[in-house]
Amino acid sequence: MEQKLENMVVPRHIALILDGNGRWAKRRGLPRSLGHKQGCVAVEKTVEIAARSGVEYLTVYGFSTENWKRSEEEVGALMQLFRYYMVRLLKVASANNVRVRMVGDRTRFAKDIIEGINRLESETENNTGLTFVIAVNYGSRDEITRAVRRLAADCAAGQVKAETITEQTVESYLDTAGMPDPDLLIRTSGELRLSNYLLWQLAYTEIYITDCLWPDFNQEEWEKAILAYNKRNRRFGGAK
Ligand code: IPE
Ligand code: IPE
Ligand code: MG
Repeated sequence: MEQKLENMVVPRHIALILDGNGRWAKRRGLPRSLGHKQGCVAVEKTVEIAARSGVEYLTVYGFSTENWKRSEEEVGALMQLFRYYMVRLLKVASANNVRVRMVGDRTRFAKDIIEGINRLESETENNTGLTFVIAVNYGSRDEITRAVRRLAADCAAGQVKAETITEQTVESYLDTAGMPDPDLLIRTSGELRLSNYLLWQLAYTEIYITDCLWPDFNQEEWEKAILAYNKRNRRFGGAK
């Protein structure tokens, strides 16, 4: 019997590793940059799907700290796409009551991109629907390193006592401070890795991997992931 999505538990926070743009383009004999462009269209659609579905947080891996190692041409094309889609995203966010937040170290980007990111956050901060989090120049080890650096500085300044540091303290220094941990991680294009994504936050997250390449991701794929999540027996942390 087919299960209906309306009877399903919607995860509070979905984390997404969008992967497969390059393979999508290659299969069509197109340059990788066109795969990324189509990937941006899929991101826009997914924000709308998520906003409608009642998910509170959607966190998407857009560009990793390791992605700078790609060719200059590809990195350049990705930066141009950021510039273009940041403007579009402002419209999509406003139309769907979406609050946008960025995690990762934005300081490495060009000035106009940093300004665009800041603007996206400030102009959408009072929206009350979905919180759409984009991880750009994000790497979990980099995030944890930056957090440790700030925490160590606060200790040295006498603002924090080392012996009082708890998991909550560490959490409050991460880029994701204040956000609930993801309930479900979706990775497209079949790779079975975390690729330096949200290593602290994904400690108990259910993982769903699909062979679908990111530019092909749609409502149907979204529903398949939610259905799979609902079939999981969320027994963890010693629960019987
Ligand atoms: C994901 O697609 C997008 C980014 C990492 C920016 P890829 O570019 O990694 O696509 P594949 O893995 O080469 O197919
Ligand atoms: C993960 O995809 C990073 C993003 C989606 C931004 P990658 O394609 O960069 O990951 P690896 O290199 O296959 O692990
Ligand atoms: Mg990839």
